[in-house]
Order: sequence, then C-alpha cells, then structure tokens
Amino acid sequence: MAAVWILLGKTRFPAELIESSKDHGVRTASVPFDISADFIPDLLREQDERLRQTSAAEPPEAPEFADIIHRSRVMARLIQRARRVAIRNVPVLIEGESGTGKEMFARAIHRASTRRERPFVAVNCGAIPGELIESELFGHEKGAFTDAKQPRKGYFEAADGGTLFLDELGELPGPAQVKLLRAVQEGEVVRLGATRPFKVDVRIVAATHRTLTEEIAAGRFREDLFYRLAVAVLKIPPLRERTGDLGGLVDHLLDQVNREAAAEPGYREKRLSAGARNLLVAHMWPGNVRELLNTLRRAAIWSDSAAISSEDVREALLPVAAVVRQDLLAKPLGGGFNLPELLKDVARSYLQRAMDEAHGNKTRAAELVGLPSYQTLSNWLAKYEVQG
Ligand SMILES: Nc1ncnc2c1ncn2[C@@H]1O[C@H](COP(=O)(O)OP(=O)(O)OP(=O)(O)O)[C@@H](O)[C@H]1O
Ligand SMILES: [Mg+2]
Repeated sequence: MAAVWILLGKTRFPAELIESSKDHGVRTASVPFDISADFIPDLLREQDERLRQTSAAEPPEAPEFADIIHRSRVMARLIQRARRVAIRNVPVLIEGESGTGKEMFARAIHRASTRRERPFVAVNCGAIPGELIESELFGHEKGAFTDAKQPRKGYFEAADGGTLFLDELGELPGPAQVKLLRAVQEGEVVRLGATRPFKVDVRIVAATHRTLTEEIAAGRFREDLFYRLAVAVLKIPPLRERTGDLGGLVDHLLDQVNREAAAEPGYREKRLSAGARNLLVAHMWPGNVRELLNTLRRAAIWSDSAAISSEDVREALLPVAAVVRQDLLAKPLGGGFNLPELLKDVARSYLQRAMDEAHGNKTRAAELVGLPSYQTLSNWLAKYEVQG
C-alpha cells in the first residue's frame, strides 16, 4: 500500500507524503525519486518493489560524488538522490542549463553503479551530423553505405555492460529518436545494413539543457521515448540558485587552474585578491560552473602578478552577463546609446559563449551561432577580438 501512495504522490497526484510510526511519530516521508507517470507496468512493478525495500534505507557512502563541490542544500539533496539512483539499473535523465555539471553527475552515477568496471561511453547527440547518427549509435556493416569500407561497432555495442551517456539528447533528430526507442524497448540493436538484431545490455543516462516536456509540446521530441528515458529525473539547479556554493567552487577551480598550468614555463601560482574574489562571488554566472572555470582560466592568464586583481577578473568576465541581464530592446536612446557598440557586445558575448560551449571546436561553435562554416566563424572571432 505504501508503495502505491508513493507512486501516486510522485506521478498523477503530486502530494506531500506523511508517515507515522510508534518510534518516530508523524513525519514527512522523503522519497528519493521523481517518477514519470506513464512508464510501462512491468518496469513499474519492479521499481515499486525496489523502492519499497530501499526508500527507508540510507544509500551507501559513495566517494564517486566527492568531487562535486557544493555547500548548498539543494545540491546536497540532489547528490543524495543521485547516489540512490546510481545503484539501481534504471535510465536517468539529467536536466540542467549549460555548464551546470550534467556530465560530472553522469560520470559519478556510472562510477557508483554496479557497472563501474564496464565502459562509460559519452556521445554528444548534438555534435554528430544528422546522416551519421544512426551508424554512430548502432554501427554498420561493410558496404551499408558508400563510405562504409569496414564494419564498425556503434556506441551501443561499445557500451555493452556499461553506461551510454547520451548528452544533449534534446538535439536528436526524429528518425534517430524512433530507432533509439526501439533499441531501449527491445534491448537490442541492428547495425545499418545488417538483418539480424543482437542483444545489448546498456544503461542509458541522458542529459539535456532543454526542458524535454516543452520539446514534446512543441512536437520536437517523442513522448514515448521521454517516458522510457525519464524514469529517474535529476534537475541540476543553475549556479545562481545554489546559495553558498560559489566560495568553495572558486577555491576548488582556482586550484585546478593552477594545477593545469603548473608545468607551463614561467607560470606563477595565482591566488585571488579580496576584490577579485568579491567580484566573482557577486556575479550571476549565466554560463554556470563552466563559465566560472573559464573566467578563472582567462584571469590567471591575464594577470601578470601572483595575485589576480579585480581588474583582471573584470576583463576576464564575459560581456554576455552584463548584456543579457538588461532588456536589449528597451534601452533608452541618446545619452551615450551606441548601436554599433551594442551589436558588437552581443556578437562578442555569443561568440565567446559558443567557443566555451564547443570546447574550442570551431566547426561546432559555428553551428551553435548559425554561421555557415568554421572559416566564417574565424573571421568573426578576429573581427570581434574573441580568442579562438
Ligand atoms: N559542483 C562542481 N564541482 C566541481 N567542478 C564542477 C562542478 N560542476 C561542474 N564542474 C566543472 O565544470 C565543468 C563543466 O561541467 P560539466 O561538463 O559536467 O557540465 P555540463 O552541464 O555537462 O556542461 P555543458 O552544458 O557545457 O556540456 C567541468 O570542468 C566540471 O568538472
Ligand atoms: Mg556537457
């Protein structure tokens, strides 16, 4: 009966659940999952039983999550849920803005799972050209298409026994979504050009910076696939909502920047001046932890003494933050308003963000900002003085 209440309260009829016992009296019951409403009955029964057995027990210590730096309560709760989910063999969907730590969570979940000795295969669904996706995911036989000179394993086969991390799942085109659904449903894949399917045992952890329910409403994402993959959903909050996390992250990431650069000739270990630290902690970080890390990297390069000054930080901060927080279309005219300057700021900030998000891959960055080629992007980077 308890399990039924948990399932109802977590799905169709969201409710606070209360438990009572002689020992503890009446108290709110905490259930460590978000459960999608519509997944199939078999899975439901299995989950149901596992949930009942484990919802009261603390998950085992999981050092795999120790490198996720946090102090905020929202993150502590999220990590606790991720630890509980990790040890169960269910698909996980991680939602969060760009740079919030989605991949970090996915890797920690794999390391804390019983599949830890098996492969973790990461695939960025947004980075594979549409016509190659199926062969990349499911593999192909020799001669399946013109360039298929050799048979090739797909990512599913490569991840057999382990975890397949489908990053940017929301970018997967419709036809590939159909094939993915089949693979997940049947637990088997068919290489392109092959006739026979074969079994694979893969746990899928997917991530997206989009809200998939909105993508479903807009007709861009299949609802059936969503319910298959969103069995356990982890929503990573943006950095601006994690009160208390920034200080620890700044220290940790500056250590990382110092370690990365330690071998470079003439590098002096950097620390932050008090002013620089204040600026960093007051910033909104629209690009989240990744933006913080990259800002520290830039500031460390640009500061010529051992202490990073507030001026270094100001220069290293992306203009995007200042621009997006004001309404771009509602600025008062006159009094210093300068349209070319504003357009330049916008271009610069998006270019910088695209380069950060594409990890310096210019072809991908060009796609992200809708430019036709990496050559065009290079021209823009030069024109707007953004580092390539
Ligand atoms: N809580 C954290 N503690 C320490 N490092 C973190 C934390 N969150 C993120 N990072 C670091 O920030 C960077 C971005 O994290 P990650 O790649 O996991 O984010 P993401 O959500 O996948 O980003 P993107 O959307 O850009 O792909 C990584 O270098 C990661 O190690
Ligand atoms: Mg990522």
